[in-house]
Amino acid sequence: MSDGLEDVVAANTVLSEVDGQRGQLIIRGHSLDELAGRARFEDVARILFDGFFDDLPADVAPALGAARAEVFGEVAALDTGLLDRTPIEAMRALTARLADGDDLPTALRLLAAPAVFTAAVIRAQGGHAPVAPDPALSHAADTLRMLHGRAPGKAEADALDTYLVTVCDHGLNASTFTARVIASTRAGLTSAVLGGIGALKGPLHGGAPGPVIEMLDEIGEPANARAWIEAALARGDRLMGFGHRIYRVRDPRADALKAAVRRLDDGSNVRPGRVAFAEAVEAAALAILKAHKPDRALDTNVEFYTALLLEALDFPPSAFTCVFAMGRVAGWVAHAREQVAGGRLIRPQSVYVGPAPLKAA
Ligand code: SDX
Repeated sequence: MSDGLEDVVAANTVLSEVDGQRGQLIIRGHSLDELAGRARFEDVARILFDGFFDDLPADVAPALGAARAEVFGEVAALDTGLLDRTPIEAMRALTARLADGDDLPTALRLLAAPAVFTAAVIRAQGGHAPVAPDPALSHAADTLRMLHGRAPGKAEADALDTYLVTVCDHGLNASTFTARVIASTRAGLTSAVLGGIGALKGPLHGGAPGPVIEMLDEIGEPANARAWIEAALARGDRLMGFGHRIYRVRDPRADALKAAVRRLDDGSNVRPGRVAFAEAVEAAALAILKAHKPDRALDTNVEFYTALLLEALDFPPSAFTCVFAMGRVAGWVAHAREQVAGGRLIRPQSVYVGPAPLKAA
């Protein structure tokens, strides 16, 4: 048995390749640096969906804008019970109100849902009325507008677009595999996405970026980094934002997102000195992890600079995983459709190690 299914190939896919030795990510034949900072999220979602929906328009932006407006109607269900939940639990609950299906309208509603519901939940939990979508805006720009109640600057919208593109798909990670398992039973796209949200929530997976901010805030200044990190490792804690099941070198997304933070670092969005401080903490963490685990390549992963980028865009750390879902939902839907198109029911074997029956059958 492979613990955690490590190195087990569970599917062939045309959607993305994660090369852990060379530190490369390919999305449907495009390298990450061709897409991040260059393509809109809706255009990359279309690249992922191409071939999996017969009626896919050349430009999905208008239909995605209409889908945002459509799913906004579910926000009325944001009752006080949901307001007491974490943002991802509330977003998951609202997404569960969407009907299941396998068609493009269902897919576009699911593509819209994490953005619309997360913005509404954050505003409602802050005592502010949700802001209805503007279908004419890009997905990233409208997301920030629904969150802050004002049109974002181009640099802010571009930064969120870069993030959503960078995290939209990443091979058979835990949440995508979950979505494929659910899709393999023919349960429908909404069920597959709900499973993906559930898996993404965990701190070993998509739940890591929020705790990166907590780590930076607890360290406070570069001089404290070594002692704080040593103490964390001595407690057996994992350093959030470091290590990866596949990458044995630096996650290429870390530099794509660090570049996006630097483009925002004009004093208005990024706190002065914040990037330099994060770099100092990163350097200390990499050095200590190398000494702590010399036989295991533990490098910076996607979540470390995700934290700085989403902080700069004024998302609360408690909602960082929701923003991850805004991008990854494109991959979950595409993988679900790929599984239905060519895959069988996913049902692995297990070895029974429990007690023998008391008497022979
Ligand atoms: C994502 O799969 C994907 O593609 C995921 C993702 C995506 O786009 O979908 O890339 C997104 O999930 C990124 C990872 C976000 N999570 C974190 O940043 C949490 C911190 N990282 C770790 O928990 C860990 O690195 C994992 C979970 C990401 C990967 O762990 P593995 O492959 O299961 O390896 P492991 O837990 O068996 O660790 C091997 C050794 C262990 O030492 P021992 O117990 O054998 O002595 O390395 C150590 C671990 O303790 N280790 C760490 C560490 N990561 C691994 N020690 C300290 N800090 C860490 N971050």
